[in-house]
Amino acid sequence: MSAPTRRHETHVADRFGAQAASYVASAVHAAGADLDRIAERMRTVRPARALDLGCGGGHVAFAMAPHAGTVTALDLSPDMLAAVAAEAGRRGLPNIATEAGSAAALPFPDAAFDAVATRFSAHHWRDVRAGLAEARRVAKPGAPALVADIVAPDDALLDTHLQAVELLRDPSHVRDYSVPEWLAMLAEAGFTVDRITHGRLRMDFATWIARMRTPEPLVTAIRALQATAPDEVAHHFGLAPDGSFWLDTVLIEAVAA
Ligand SMILES: C[S@@+](CC[C@H](N)C(=O)[O-])C[C@H]1O[C@@H](n2cnc3c(N)ncnc32)[C@H](O)[C@@H]1O
Repeated sequence: MSAPTRRHETHVADRFGAQAASYVASAVHAAGADLDRIAERMRTVRPARALDLGCGGGHVAFAMAPHAGTVTALDLSPDMLAAVAAEAGRRGLPNIATEAGSAAALPFPDAAFDAVATRFSAHHWRDVRAGLAEARRVAKPGAPALVADIVAPDDALLDTHLQAVELLRDPSHVRDYSVPEWLAMLAEAGFTVDRITHGRLRMDFATWIARMRTPEPLVTAIRALQATAPDEVAHHFGLAPDGSFWLDTVLIEAVAA
């Protein structure tokens, strides 16, 4: 008998599927200036068809739905999609449809969407360039593309600390990209960036760990990294005695060229 496969995307779907309810309920995910801005853009654009890539608990789809004809919420995890469909029903948002799939191989024809958004998902993608190329393929020319994610500081010491704690907390983490990396990748994929908004999010350590059910030995490893972090790292991330810290975020507003 052959061993079960452990491909990255299976790993992501398993990790998030087991935590679907906590991502729907998560205060960090359910609100934010980035979500407000996405809703504001949608109010202006009024897309007939909008796409939320890596919808997780569905918060971008919920923000888009009142201003869109239909919203397709796509995710690798069928459990996450079931939780989103149930929550959309509770919220009275019948124009949200769910679709299982990978950002790297979207199950949609070319130019199918009038707006595309993705939030806090791309740092899990196995091949972010393929995902952005697919986002561009399914977007109509001129469609807004809104990308929100955690970003790596443009400084190797800080970057390495961030990626290390992210990976220890969640083995499905791939990479938090820096803003210059994002801008280069978006340009390469065929998007023109028109606005960049920086932000910071305070992560409560206990909640951050609980949301991913990080095993105790890995929590201990994160705490050891934090305890031995140099001053520059402690200062940048605002490391607190209980392990809480700041994450840098960005919302990049682009247009499909
Ligand atoms: C942190 S959650 C997203 C949060 C959500 N977008 C929000 O704004 O609250 C990350 C989601 O990305 C999904 N994901 C990761 N890699 C993916 C990929 N390659 N294609 C589609 N979904 C992916 C995961 O399954 C997970 O549900």
